[in-house]
Amino acid sequence: MGALLLIVLSYFFHHQLEVLALATSSDLDFSYMKSVYNATDLPLKEEYDYIIVGGGTAGCPLAATLSANYSVLVLERGSAPPSYPQLVLTADGSGGVLLQEDDGKTPAQRFTSEDGVANVRGRVLGGTSMINGGFFSKADDQFYNESGIHWDMNAVEEAYQWVEDTIVFQPNLSTWPSIVKEALLKAGVGPDNGFSLQHLVGTKSSGSIFDNEGKRHGAVELLNKGELKNLKVAVEAYAERIIFSSKASGVSATGVVYSDSKGRTHEALIRDEGEVILSAGAIGSPQLLLLSGIGPLPHLSSHKVPVVSQNPDVGNFMADNPRNSITIVVPFALDPSIVQVVGITNDFNYIESGSSVTSFSFPQPFSFYPNGTTPLELSVATIVEKFSGPLSSGSLQLVSSADVKVSPTIQFNYFGDPKDLSRCVRGMRLVGDMLKTDAMEGLKFEDLEGAEGFKFLGPSLPRNLSDDASMEAFCRSTVTTFWHYHGGCLVGKVVDGYLRVVGTNSLRVVDGSIFNTSPGTNPQATLMMIGRYMGLRMLQEREAAK
Ligand SMILES: Cc1cc2nc3c(=O)[nH]c(=O)nc-3n(C[C@H](O)[C@H](O)[C@H](O)COP(=O)(O)OP(=O)(O)OC[C@H]3O[C@@H](n4cnc5c(N)ncnc54)[C@H](O)[C@@H]3O)c2cc1C
Ligand SMILES: *[C@@H]1O[C@H](CO)[C@@H](O)[C@H](O)[C@H]1NC(C)=O
Ligand SMILES: *[C@@H]1O[C@H](CO)[C@@H](O)[C@H](O)[C@H]1NC(C)=O
Ligand SMILES: *[C@@H]1O[C@H](CO)[C@@H](O)[C@H](O)[C@H]1NC(C)=O
Ligand SMILES: *[C@@H]1O[C@H](CO)[C@@H](O)[C@H](O)[C@H]1NC(C)=O
Ligand SMILES: *[C@@H]1O[C@H](CO)[C@@H](O)[C@H](O)[C@H]1NC(C)=O
Ligand SMILES: *[C@@H]1O[C@H](CO)[C@@H](O)[C@H](O)[C@H]1NC(C)=O
Repeated sequence: MGALLLIVLSYFFHHQLEVLALATSSDLDFSYMKSVYNATDLPLKEEYDYIIVGGGTAGCPLAATLSANYSVLVLERGSAPPSYPQLVLTADGSGGVLLQEDDGKTPAQRFTSEDGVANVRGRVLGGTSMINGGFFSKADDQFYNESGIHWDMNAVEEAYQWVEDTIVFQPNLSTWPSIVKEALLKAGVGPDNGFSLQHLVGTKSSGSIFDNEGKRHGAVELLNKGELKNLKVAVEAYAERIIFSSKASGVSATGVVYSDSKGRTHEALIRDEGEVILSAGAIGSPQLLLLSGIGPLPHLSSHKVPVVSQNPDVGNFMADNPRNSITIVVPFALDPSIVQVVGITNDFNYIESGSSVTSFSFPQPFSFYPNGTTPLELSVATIVEKFSGPLSSGSLQLVSSADVKVSPTIQFNYFGDPKDLSRCVRGMRLVGDMLKTDAMEGLKFEDLEGAEGFKFLGPSLPRNLSDDASMEAFCRSTVTTFWHYHGGCLVGKVVDGYLRVVGTNSLRVVDGSIFNTSPGTNPQATLMMIGRYMGLRMLQEREAAK
């Protein structure tokens, strides 16, 4: 009886009494710029307690935390946000960053996986949190259970809180997310969980790193919470490989070789008891381990990389949650909106939404324009579907062992596992059910005969939602990315439960490459939490060893 009460109470405290202390200031805080250096201005050889490769979503909170007690160097290949003013501007304006031509320096680096799906990753201080959709929602309970990481749940909650009070805001719902919320509830995705950062079955709105004025507060602002005098952030610093030395205790990381924008090579070394931490993201971290001689023997040998430690799983289990969606043209002007609402089913389908104003050029017989078209502005609205996991995965392989700037190839094998396909079918059926609710009535167009229906932009859902074959064909033919790719340095395979690279000393990986599944509905909240959490954990380990 007592135990039952305890379970009920802990559920109650965990889920219902959510303590919310969100950010209050909308001012962008650039204090961290005091610690930012052009890599060209740093010495060719220098020592630190900790070296973090990648000033991204997990790397920034990690660096801030370690800097409280130790000297920290962050190596970031991109530049700092002030170099790209359009990044922090507005929630809808930032979409332009994704469309920018990739010139090798732009903050959104494009890549296309071997599956043929176009994708993107951050190349800027603050990492992918500087180019993403901003939606902030925490990990699901199952993730903690199955991640293989040793968690102290109180410390987890404190780490989330540390992030939330600085860069997370409660948005006012825009029109389209409000409609989607109603449609979700009417299609049976209840209860209505109001506003919550927790992962709860039902429909809820969640936090955003965009403030009420539409300004982005990425992970970079978490650097401000560090001891800036102990922190050095090198930008345009490309880490090329990890330096190792063989000691009696085995092979240990002792530093990092990096190059600056003038092509000069630097060596950053760690002091005794220090560590090198890779936070270069799900593509950058496995790539760097391979370049440094940690990986599958045949792959390293074929690229003539000297082997430091064999590990068949580096670069394996690369996964990307498929995104499938429908887009409709709306018969009235709709304000642009980003993800604010999510529907979470008890079988782990996630439904999110977005809306935008798009220009089209339609052929016109009596056009004023010599090219025979008239530009037209239309509001379009999207409902997107994702599911947890996925079970399907592929691998990452080096293309060049000589140049870190040459991206590796990545294959995700979307729907390689048939269970993923049936999860997509289930999710898209739910989207079909949402379209049938009266929440969506006002979005239909009337045709000349008076019949009402949606105007789809791109593929519409199969007419017969019960037909597996056509639903499966829809899932396969419309697959794209939610940009939640992960894996390559999995816990239990490449790193241990404290994220230390197995077979080495003084080397960890702290970023999305360690996940066997993408946490929650969207991963950034968990990644920021893990940066803070692991930083505190490392400080404690060091105190305990004294
Ligand atoms: C378009 C888009 C929209 C998204 N929307 C959302 C959303 O709304 N909500 C959400 O929760 N998640 C969203 N995500 C996903 C989320 O942003 C990412 O999963 C997360 O930011 C990844 O964090 P990370 O720390 O693993 O890597 P990153 O943040 O990518 O950090 C890696 C850093 O390492 C640097 N680096 C890499 N290699 C090197 C090297 N050799 N030397 C030096 N530096 C290096 C990179 O430049 C980068 O700054 C979105 C992603 C994208 C792309
Ligand atoms: C760093 O210095 C180099 C060489 O002077 C210059 O080309 C580059 O633009 C600088 N980068 C930044 C971010 O200031
Ligand atoms: C997580 O693990 C605990 C303890 O084993 C268990 O009671 C709980 O049901 C699990 N939760 C989920 C969501 O798997
Ligand atoms: C939400 O709307 C209210 C009322 O219009 C306004 O006072 C408040 O500042 C808005 N908050 C956000 C987060 O935009
Ligand atoms: C046609 O010309 C107009 C006016 O110059 C321009 O805005 C539009 O983009 C052009 N459309 C196409 C399809 O080239
Ligand atoms: C829809 O598909 C199912 C399964 O293939 C089939 O049994 C049913 O007859 C179809 N309904 C219509 C109206 O075609
Ligand atoms: C960090 O340093 C402060 C004093 O500078 C000390 O009080 C604290 O115990 C240290 N904490 C850790 C975890 O090292």
